[in-house]
Amino acid sequence: MRRAVVRGVGHYLPERVVPNSEFEKTLETTDEWIRGRTGIERRHFAAEGETTSDMAARACDIALTNAGLTANDIDAIVLATSTADLTFPSAATMVQAKIGMERGFAFDVQAVCAGFVYALTNANALIVSGQADRVLVIGAETFSRIMDWTDRTTCVLFGDGAGALVLEAQDGDGTPQDRGILATDLNSDGRYRDLLYVDGGVSTQTTGVLRMEGNQVFRHAVAKLAATAEAALSKAGLQAEDLDWIVPHQANIRIIQGTAKKMGLPMDKVVVTVQDHGNTSAASIPLAMSVAHANGQIKQGDLIVTEAIGGGLAWGAVALRW
Ligand code: UT7
Repeated sequence: MRRAVVRGVGHYLPERVVPNSEFEKTLETTDEWIRGRTGIERRHFAAEGETTSDMAARACDIALTNAGLTANDIDAIVLATSTADLTFPSAATMVQAKIGMERGFAFDVQAVCAGFVYALTNANALIVSGQADRVLVIGAETFSRIMDWTDRTTCVLFGDGAGALVLEAQDGDGTPQDRGILATDLNSDGRYRDLLYVDGGVSTQTTGVLRMEGNQVFRHAVAKLAATAEAALSKAGLQAEDLDWIVPHQANIRIIQGTAKKMGLPMDKVVVTVQDHGNTSAASIPLAMSVAHANGQIKQGDLIVTEAIGGGLAWGAVALRW
């Protein structure tokens, strides 16, 4: 059975680091409130002129080096973002050119904070169906460009960055012991549109800014994330107790803790980067995977479930053995 196995990983964070204290100068907020309610201590913001595809290309270069491959060894790019450089072409095709990839195909996936889980699921389908042997799966965002800087309930939460995985077709036995993506679980419910959205877009000829009913999204998050993670594990013939790591979407430490608790797992099995990155939407999971791989937490053979929820609402999970 063909499996989509992780062969390389990398990430890029823009140079500018913004500590919580910077928001105290312009908003009625405190470092203490932001840390206490979200776990966020700092985030990175892209430099003027630095775009989503710029950051994505940097992450890809590192992931390719980590995989021992070059751009023309890749058959496809699947890039998750809600903050592409232009309305079209896709940020993925821009990345294709920036990394010097002169073959294959590239496209964007838009599922907001669940984007990377959706992108992984698409990339897995391309590999399992034989359409591609090697796929670069990217999450990259410049959410700093869609903030309302007068709204303390949203602008302190988000950050910019990019992460990438190289997935490669390898033969497995079709058992849960195989390396690679073992199962996926995607969900959305458009009736919750007003809980988290950008109040502009191409059709309205505005760019818009992010609007969120944070506490309502919070309520949905813990229940839906634990359920989707358990669904992905169950499809793979596994259970939460088999896991080495949860790599959750990094939105709020209290959501991360609540989900782990609901799944009956201790926090030492959870990768946490929200303190350093804030919520980077579709970039948060590959950023967390890359950091956890670099610091020796995630190792070959580890069983991982990754889960995310965001605007839509859209949510989902992927079970994989690294
Ligand atoms: O990644 C996509 C999915 N998004 C998420 O997962 C985000 C989910 N939501 C959250 O993480 C949390 O709901 C927030 C961090 C956004 C907010 O935390 P909360 O504990 O749900 O607070 P709240 O919205 O219920 O607000 C509590 C109070 C309010 O004041 P009053 O009405 O009680 O007087 C807010 O106005 O905190 C106030 N508040 C702030 N105070 C200081 C909201 N933002 C701030 C702030 N500084 N930055």
